[in-house]
Amino acid sequence: MAREIEVGPAAELLPGTIHRADRYAVGNSQDELFAVTRRCRHLGADLADGSIDDNGCLVCPWHGASYDVASGRMTRGPQGIFAKIPGLGAGFKLLTRFLPLGRGTVVKRDGKVFVR
Ligand code: FES
Repeated sequence: MAREIEVGPAAELLPGTIHRADRYAVGNSQDELFAVTRRCRHLGADLADGSIDDNGCLVCPWHGASYDVASGRMTRGPQGIFAKIPGLGAGFKLLTRFLPLGRGTVVKRDGKVFVR
């Protein structure tokens, strides 16, 4: 059986929140819980410090790349100065088609959230 990591009380995982749980960023996107690995595919920022945008994507706190939390794929490349580099965003999006963020399985039990 896969190792299970306690995230915290289910009542604290409100829409738009993201919590740190070992190697996972566990959050609530549009009332759906998700768990993805924490390191951004661009330069390794901690995605648990990110945010959820209006489309329900997880946004990297450093350069604003966004990820589909269900697939782990990048939906928008790094922003700011990085957005001016031709092909960079497309390259990272392509990379995450083959190397998406890892996804954990989120379970609720006895009022708590766990990831495995
Ligand atoms: S480290 Fe995430 S977009 Fe740059």
